[in-house]
Amino acid sequence: MAKVNPYQVEGKVDYERLVKEFGISKLTAQDLQRIKKIAGELHPYLKRGIFFAHRDLKWCLDEYEKGNKFFLYTGCGPSGPVHLGHLGTWRFTKWLQDAFGVEVWFQFTDDEKFLFKDLSYEEVQKWTYENMLDVIALGFDPKRTHFLIDTKHAGIMYPEAIKVAKKITFSTIKAAFGFSDSNNIGSIFYTSMQTVPVFLPNVLRGENRPCLIPLGVDQDPHFRISRDVVEKLGHHKPAVLHAVFMPPLTGMEGKMSSSDADKAILTTDDLATVKKKINKYAFSGGQATVEEHRRKGGDPDIDIAYQWLRYFEFDDKKLKKIHDNYKSGKLLSGELKSILIDKINEFLVEHRKKREKARKEVEKYVYRANSPRLI
Ligand code: TYM
Repeated sequence: MAKVNPYQVEGKVDYERLVKEFGISKLTAQDLQRIKKIAGELHPYLKRGIFFAHRDLKWCLDEYEKGNKFFLYTGCGPSGPVHLGHLGTWRFTKWLQDAFGVEVWFQFTDDEKFLFKDLSYEEVQKWTYENMLDVIALGFDPKRTHFLIDTKHAGIMYPEAIKVAKKITFSTIKAAFGFSDSNNIGSIFYTSMQTVPVFLPNVLRGENRPCLIPLGVDQDPHFRISRDVVEKLGHHKPAVLHAVFMPPLTGMEGKMSSSDADKAILTTDDLATVKKKINKYAFSGGQATVEEHRRKGGDPDIDIAYQWLRYFEFDDKKLKKIHDNYKSGKLLSGELKSILIDKINEFLVEHRKKREKARKEVEKYVYRANSPRLI
């Protein structure tokens, strides 16, 4: 069985089994219909099963329809450059912000990365700033998006974090994350900090709104613990939307990660690097020779170029045509890779322009005690 927790994703993930093990619910056709009815459309990541499961979504939408709008909460652990796997989760969050007209609270866990990685405090601060540029570049609405940086917002976060921490035992943390007695004591405390934004906006404003958390499923164990705790503290349990992992270049096992940069595409990779990485490393579902491929066709289910296109080609008809042509052998592996290279480079060229502009905008996003609520 593959291991899935915030600090380890290994092996081939069996999502059916994960649903049972984590106690989460698969998104049904009815759930999707309901989202479509409210949002007016369905994001491709929902249609394609990239966001595949949830906790308490129905309750969250019930409240929304009664006029009690939720806020979105998601985050970034700043320990290195942003890769395409992060972007998927955040692009979807931005879509939710627009489609539902809601606030986003975005946590940058500089404390977490300092405690868990072999990085200095200064290095983590550098990555925090660099990663904020990527998030801003995705176009979040500055008036309705608030960045929380754990060490910078400690004054408002710490009083709430200790209330959470007092209700979690070391043995719960050990079991959830596989920690041992040799873990540093900061890492044991950390889940409390990731819990705080679940209810902090309500504490700051004296409100009682639902919180909806879009995330990669590796982050779920934090919230599995904190859902019970926040309820004991008198807050709503958060609702969660879970995404599958965008795989690394080398195949469908594990997840894309910045600690293995050769197997990931980073937002800072230039045109030639993207081309080189994909041509060299992208696992192919094609056949050994052109003749064999034409005869037997390729397997899009295990082909990384096709799997990644599901994140970047939003036109359903185009994607289906690529799928069918690859499966029938009409489209060769090299041709499929070159479609992907163009698509990613087209996206990244624009992203990098926006990322540069973002340098002047950071201050607009960082939460200030008097940031007004605009919904
Ligand atoms: P981090 O920085 O590891 O990842 C940020 C978000 O990206 C998701 N993610 C992926 N999703 C799909 N495929 C991948 N290959 C992939 N790699 C990363 C993560 O699941 C996450 O949603 N502790 C967190 C930061 C955090 C957070 C949160 C995340 C704080 N509060 C609330 C989600 C929700 C972290 O280190 O994320």
